[in-house]
Amino acid sequence: MLSRKPMVAGNWKMNGSLELVQNIASTIKSINNDDVEVVVIPPTVLLSNVVASGVKAGVQTVSEHPLGAYTGEVQASLVKALGATYTLVGHSERRSIYGESNEDVANKFEQAQTDKLIPILCVGETESEREQGQTENVVAAQIKAVIDKLGIASLNDSVIAYEPVWAIGTGKTASPEQAQAVHKFIRDLVSSYDAEISESLQILYGGSVNESNSELLFAQADIDGGLIGGASLKPEAFKIICESA
Ligand code: G3P
Repeated sequence: MLSRKPMVAGNWKMNGSLELVQNIASTIKSINNDDVEVVVIPPTVLLSNVVASGVKAGVQTVSEHPLGAYTGEVQASLVKALGATYTLVGHSERRSIYGESNEDVANKFEQAQTDKLIPILCVGETESEREQGQTENVVAAQIKAVIDKLGIASLNDSVIAYEPVWAIGTGKTASPEQAQAVHKFIRDLVSSYDAEISESLQILYGGSVNESNSELLFAQADIDGGLIGGASLKPEAFKIICESA
């Protein structure tokens, strides 16, 4: 069986400071878990500081345009040159606040891989979609938008993050059973195209992960780590989460 490396990525969103970069970098160096891959995804303006601190870095979004006058956008080739390894694509806040469609996300996924970034494809349902029993349909459509555009092989060099929208920033974490059910659905969906890619695909859980719930979540068979928001801004909490992966 292909082994999947556990991964914990901290999505700082708009938060952070030069002091936090240094604090988190020294905390990461003290983590007592050689197996886990730790990534920090700061505001893009702090990317070079995170890279210089020796921590693996990502960005929160990239433009689907390779070049051009797009004010405020982030050029994938430029952040790659500055040392970024990963990029989020399709985070729920990009979908809800900036109106990114499944097609937009697939385009960003493609641009990221063109410029040798590893995309972390964020998927997840809203509370009303879950209440209407639409979770699997929503998540499947978000993943199929990428597979239909780029083929199943494109998932080889990617990560999927399942982030139920109703759990993001709310303190309402999905139970381990709820999260595992959707992670297994995702893995089975990918397996229906290619079993080997499915087996090696890292699927992270995100949505109010903290130092108290991470161990039980990460113990689930199809949860390979976490995409952490608020708790990634707290060095000691982040350390505990990384050590539990
Ligand atoms: O991308 C991770 C983020 O959406 C989760 O935020 O604060 O619920 O851990 P939080």
